[in-house]
Amino acid sequence: MAGRILLITDGAAAVAYGPALLQRLRDDRYTVRVAPTGYEGASALAFVSEAGWSAFSGHPCMAIERLGHDDFAAADAIVLAPVSMAVASVFLRGRALPLLQGAARPVLVAPALLAAQAADDALRRDFMAAAAALPPQSAVLWPHQGEVVRLAAMGEVAASPVETLAEAIHAALDPHPLAGRRVLLTAGPTVEDFDPVRFVSNRSTGKMGVALALAARRAGAQVTLIHGPLSAHLPRVEGVLAVPVRSAAQMHQAVMDRHRGMDLAILCAAVADFRPVEYAMNKIKKADGVGLVMPLERTRDILAELGAIPRNERPYLVGFAAESNDVRDNALGKLWRKHCDMLCCNDIKAPGCGFATDTNQIVLYFADGSTSSLPMLSKMEAATKIVAIAAGRMAAESR
Ligand code: CTP
Repeated sequence: MAGRILLITDGAAAVAYGPALLQRLRDDRYTVRVAPTGYEGASALAFVSEAGWSAFSGHPCMAIERLGHDDFAAADAIVLAPVSMAVASVFLRGRALPLLQGAARPVLVAPALLAAQAADDALRRDFMAAAAALPPQSAVLWPHQGEVVRLAAMGEVAASPVETLAEAIHAALDPHPLAGRRVLLTAGPTVEDFDPVRFVSNRSTGKMGVALALAARRAGAQVTLIHGPLSAHLPRVEGVLAVPVRSAAQMHQAVMDRHRGMDLAILCAAVADFRPVEYAMNKIKKADGVGLVMPLERTRDILAELGAIPRNERPYLVGFAAESNDVRDNALGKLWRKHCDMLCCNDIKAPGCGFATDTNQIVLYFADGSTSSLPMLSKMEAATKIVAIAAGRMAAESR
């Protein structure tokens, strides 16, 4: 769901950050016009020329001092990134304030902080007072610990990562069918240890679960993502609370602790169905025997336990199934057995589907007997569709 962005960028950090941000926003199909700060001191144009910014964005650069009402009104969001607090304070207080308020577009500010500025309370107060006057949906994205742009000659500048900012832009501009809703997700594999170095697990990377968390957040929800050890990258996103766990028992407990008050639960984790009965405190030595026979026991089925709660007391429940044979029958059996409202099924033998792929072709089965087939999509696109369809079904059922 792309849109038009006016990007105001400032300072030395823009050299490292600006091109990466522009690349990401272009990948996400946004149209971006850049207004770099002027030629003075540590301004953006002192580091990258107008021609450079135009090349990175694909559109002519805008002169910051000549930005007028039409430029703000032509944008769907105004993004100040990276920007020093001092420059942002001046910009947000000066001639731009009535223009920003008049255009009533969300303003997203990603401050870039040198170590000394991060501790400067007066500077921060001044900036926050300026930011308080911004239109609704605006946000300040403070960097968290360790989030730095490294500039060899000038040291480190703290700034929220490009992906965190990109997700905030999506959350501001994408449609919000889940506004005000709370979403619980499970993702990734679980890991069942049987001695200090060995475990039983599966090939899930968590890619689909991470995509669902981002999609639900972009749709306006507050998201709790309970996940096993992920090999997929999980960006830090405002509004997504990550709860890391390891075993099926820990995932079960985390879900049982948090499902109350949730509107939608999407259980996408590849939870181990069996775990070793015993855990050896010391590493099992091969000298202990020629072969190793290890008894396994069933884990608790989280989806089935949520499904067993009366419908009006539990969230709208979405399960996942990865099937290799008799796909339709197995999917329908799972939907009914576990009392889901919706089941997302993929045929793991079909090309482009399953673990560690970037794509997925999913068929949705609903409790009312209807089905819906999604085309082959990237996991992010599939996640966006699943979230939108679940939101639509919830609304239609007045949930
Ligand atoms: N699931 C769960 N807790 C478990 C096992 C599975 O919540 N202990 C959830 C998964 O997150 C997924 C769905 O149940 O949403 C399907 O899991 P799967 O293991 O395929 O289903 P099973 O009923 O175990 O069927 P089978 O092993 O026969 O394929």
